[in-house]
Amino acid sequence: MKRSVRTTVIAGNWKMNKTPKEAKALVKAIKAELEGKDVSKCEIVACVPYVDLATVIKEAKGSPVKVGAENVHWAESGAFTGEISAAMLKEIGVEYVIIGHSERRQYFGETDQTVNARVKAALSAGLKVILCVGELLAEREEGVTAEVVSRQVKIDLLGVTKEQMANVIIAYEPVWAIGTGKTATSDQADEVCGLIREVLGKLYTKKLAEATTIQYGGSMNAKNAEELLSKVNVDGGLIGGASLKAPDFATIIAAANK
Ligand code: 13P
Repeated sequence: MKRSVRTTVIAGNWKMNKTPKEAKALVKAIKAELEGKDVSKCEIVACVPYVDLATVIKEAKGSPVKVGAENVHWAESGAFTGEISAAMLKEIGVEYVIIGHSERRQYFGETDQTVNARVKAALSAGLKVILCVGELLAEREEGVTAEVVSRQVKIDLLGVTKEQMANVIIAYEPVWAIGTGKTATSDQADEVCGLIREVLGKLYTKKLAEATTIQYGGSMNAKNAEELLSKVNVDGGLIGGASLKAPDFATIIAAANK
């Protein structure tokens, strides 16, 4: 973390977990964990399933927890059965949206082109974007991590202006570390987050790259968060499993506030 120049962001990605009733209970539990604690050194976000958004927004009101969706469509409106637009999210009070998560790339045919279209639509509607990038295990083993991640960042951000970048967070999530219990070492996380920063420096300016929040995601938990966050290029976390347990999520938030 380098708090002097960029915001630390701890975001939960609930994935396809929690019904609205369960979501309400989890936000209540997170709020109870944070009660009376100084959490002013980081932003806290809960990215939740579409049907939980309204409940979570209501429950999180007045607390430090901000709310995000887990995906968004690229069109403003139209014949896209089952999809949700950025304007719909914005109108109900959603602030953030995750785009390009590896599970969407892996299971739902997401490509860098569709990710790019979603990013632009979200930013135009005034949403903040958490853009996920990361290499597969085979790609790491082939030594092409830098190429893969650079390509993703470059294509996913095509046409995104310097001004819009103030609303973009990048989450480096090595696919082999997601839900596997296999965390990247803090040095591996720092190295790739640093590389993403270099790419941003070339695409935009060095100053912009220095000011962009770059999170690590992939089996971040209550035990390893402090070590990962101690790295200069790791400006927060995108947390799956551990964000579903209020005490663990609170411990990660505490680590980001040390
Ligand atoms: P886990 O923390 O469960 O590994 O998930 C990480 C992730 O995919 C966050 O988006």
